[in-house]
Amino acid sequence: MKKSYFIETYGCQMNVHDTEKISGILNGLGYAPAEDEKSADLVLLNTCSVREKAAQKVFTRLGQLKKLKIGKPGMTIGVCGCLAQQEGDLFFKNRPYVDVVFGPRNVGELPSILSQLESERHQLLALSGPRQEPTFEVDTILRDSEFKAYITIMEGCDKFCTFCVVPFLRGREVSRDPHSILLEARKLADNGYVELCLLGQNVNSYRYEDFDFADLLCSLHEIPGIKRIRYTSPHPTDINQKVMNLYAELPKLCPNLHLPLQAGSNDVLSKMKRDYTREMFLSKVEYLKEVRPEIALSTDIIVGFPGETEADFLYTLDVVRTVEFASIFSFKYSPRKFTAALKMEDEVPECEKSERLQRLQNLQKEIQLRLNQSLVGTTQEILVENHAKKGEGELSGRTPCNRIVNFPGPESLRGSFVPVHIESAHPNSLNGTAATQ
Ligand code: 5AD
Ligand code: SF4
Repeated sequence: MKKSYFIETYGCQMNVHDTEKISGILNGLGYAPAEDEKSADLVLLNTCSVREKAAQKVFTRLGQLKKLKIGKPGMTIGVCGCLAQQEGDLFFKNRPYVDVVFGPRNVGELPSILSQLESERHQLLALSGPRQEPTFEVDTILRDSEFKAYITIMEGCDKFCTFCVVPFLRGREVSRDPHSILLEARKLADNGYVELCLLGQNVNSYRYEDFDFADLLCSLHEIPGIKRIRYTSPHPTDINQKVMNLYAELPKLCPNLHLPLQAGSNDVLSKMKRDYTREMFLSKVEYLKEVRPEIALSTDIIVGFPGETEADFLYTLDVVRTVEFASIFSFKYSPRKFTAALKMEDEVPECEKSERLQRLQNLQKEIQLRLNQSLVGTTQEILVENHAKKGEGELSGRTPCNRIVNFPGPESLRGSFVPVHIESAHPNSLNGTAATQ
């Protein structure tokens, strides 16, 4: 009988895509996906370490898996992803039930890791150094979607923002050979994929010899069959004039951009080592809106960074009000191992962080609803993805700006582009009816 696997994924899109790579490798080794952890021979937790909350969830989950393994001793439990890289063999301490720990840059070694486990079956650690080449090419990637595909174009980060553990875990920046990226993209188009999302920790610092991020976008744009191109996550500093101008020149480049602000106060930005000011950020936003007026911007914001005063926080609210982001991901600052901010003084009290987060989210909700309401009465081209969460016969898809639209329609529309007349708006989604029906 085939062995089965179950992977639980935490964190960002890089991790989601790593899970697709791991699933593809396991498939190639003859494993079949399991419905849940209870029926799986191999359970992997693909972990995140960006905030303490994400890390805690993993430790809690391991406690539950320990109980499961008591009744099922043949089961293999593994931990991979960023927290695996951070904690390494600490995962084995007092946890004899954890069989394997491997890092994000060790995904390609999975076949050999598993065969070593089979022959020796003891706690196995596979962690690379920060300079080891990542696994860009995986023959069989088991993608979640049949129309939208993630493609890794670079790995790692050299920026070392003072709050962020990522550079210590994902290593230094390495860009992938463009021939390999274009080959994968063409294959995807041949197999019916219509949307690409380029991935990298610092995606727009992509550079391979003289070939930069803008060159890559132009080359991908030429591929027939590919209709939409997105990317995540860029750094505001590396969004240069050349890339911004492409928003006017490349129709397939979707009018949505995730531009992590982190904070609106120049003092806080400087302590975060973000190497831009509020004014620089706002002037890029203004330019982007000029070249592509319908552009929907999203962002990440941290509240309660060490030393953040009420006046600093008001600058953040001010930028949010000025830019009118289509969505934001907002977080309370969480001290992380290895980072420079860990040693900074003037910690903001937890209750203050919570209060600021709430005020920020209230403001954003208002803005989001207002922006979504302004789309009522328009017709949007939707790439139909799946069933809507609520209701039989309800489909769900995304506009070019990445807004979620729910509308009634048959399952057969999945994977096609449908013009939808928008009839109502909520803070996080829109509702409508297919214009052709
Ligand atoms: N505390 C809170 N949020 C963080 N992020 C990264 N590190 C931390 C931290 N220590 C947020 C940033 C980043 C997003 C992926 O996670 O906003 O852009
Ligand atoms: Fe972390 Fe900053 Fe690098 Fe983003 S750019 S991964 S926030 S260090």
